[in-house]
Amino acid sequence: MQIFQRISAALPVAILLSLLSQPAAADEKLMMKAAVAHEYGGPEVLKFEDVPRPGPKEDEALVRVIASGVNPADPLTLSGKYAREFGTHLPLIPGYDIAGIVEKVGANVTKLKVGDAVYGYPTFGGGWADYVTVREWEVAAKPRSLNFVEAAAIPMGALTAWQALLDVAKLQSGQTILIHGASGGVGSFAVQIAKSHGARVIATASTANQDLLKQLGADLAIDYTKTRFEDVARDVDAVLDPVGKETLARSYGVVKKGGIVMSLVALPDRAELKKHGIRGAAISVHPDATDLTEIAHLIDAGKMKPIVTQVLPLSEAIVAQQQAATHHTRGKVVLRIADDPKG
Ligand SMILES: NC(=O)c1ccc[n+]([C@@H]2O[C@H](COP(=O)([O-])OP(=O)(O)OC[C@H]3O[C@@H](n4cnc5c(N)ncnc54)[C@H](OP(=O)(O)O)[C@@H]3O)[C@@H](O)[C@H]2O)c1
Repeated sequence: MQIFQRISAALPVAILLSLLSQPAAADEKLMMKAAVAHEYGGPEVLKFEDVPRPGPKEDEALVRVIASGVNPADPLTLSGKYAREFGTHLPLIPGYDIAGIVEKVGANVTKLKVGDAVYGYPTFGGGWADYVTVREWEVAAKPRSLNFVEAAAIPMGALTAWQALLDVAKLQSGQTILIHGASGGVGSFAVQIAKSHGARVIATASTANQDLLKQLGADLAIDYTKTRFEDVARDVDAVLDPVGKETLARSYGVVKKGGIVMSLVALPDRAELKKHGIRGAAISVHPDATDLTEIAHLIDAGKMKPIVTQVLPLSEAIVAQQQAATHHTRGKVVLRIADDPKG
């Protein structure tokens, strides 16, 4: 019997967990639709197939997926480039962002109940399917003010921004943060989280996304195709870098002494950090039910919202992967897996 092992977005935490994890037990009688890769490669290796539905282990819940978000991590893991580091195995089902309804719970599950509407980030992916198994600490109650498609746009992007700004940078009211790629999946949440915590935000994106930066609440929007950010941003307390390379290299000089540069895609350069008297961090997102609950509260309080720019059916997973690989997505792309129960 072929078991479909799911994959991790990326992350040292995931590597550890992948060593500890056992493949989900599949119920051979029940099948489900899924986007599946049997080989590593570009988006075109994904097939839309019937596969065995996973059964929850004792510490897992089975979630009926209504919608699943798309991330740049999906094409990255599909490429197999980091298969060893991520503990990736074939065949695999991508999908780290899910929103759905709890269908079944294992014997040791205490907080989740059948029928709960949840959203979250299964560490090993698997969300681009009718069903996925999750651990309790990977999901939380879905924001009540959002539908399932909107909720599925949140987990990985918002968790990354939340953990970077609040856990790592410990951003305070009155501080200034420079957020690169602020129109993207992580950046669009980072701007709103920073503003909701009283920070001043300088945000960068291309010409077409300047309107979005303002809409999100940025105090100063920079079009990186026209203006060098270091000519405008100076003495900031923190930088969030989802771009890397030259953007990261030019960021050290705009941070005040004692400030921090956080990159999502690279290790900050030690020599540059020392030269400027600043700190650096390579961010590694992890699923966290407490963070997801706080994010849901922020959303239900009207202080943050996901920017969903495209909704595609699961059968269009290849198109979704192609878009994610561009690194120029405005807000989020979401796959609709099933009809929203509330219409
Ligand atoms: N380490 C982790 O734990 C972690 C977690 C999540 C994501 N990531 C990584 O972080 C990166 C960003 O993720 P994402 O979901 O935000 O990606 P995304 O949705 O593709 O957004 C990227 C954004 O960057 C902007 N951009 C591209 N080039 C730029 C430049 N030179 N200067 C400023 N902005 C630029 C784009 O805006 P324009 O179209 O306007 O250029 C786009 O909105 C990805 O590589 C992803 O894999 C890492």
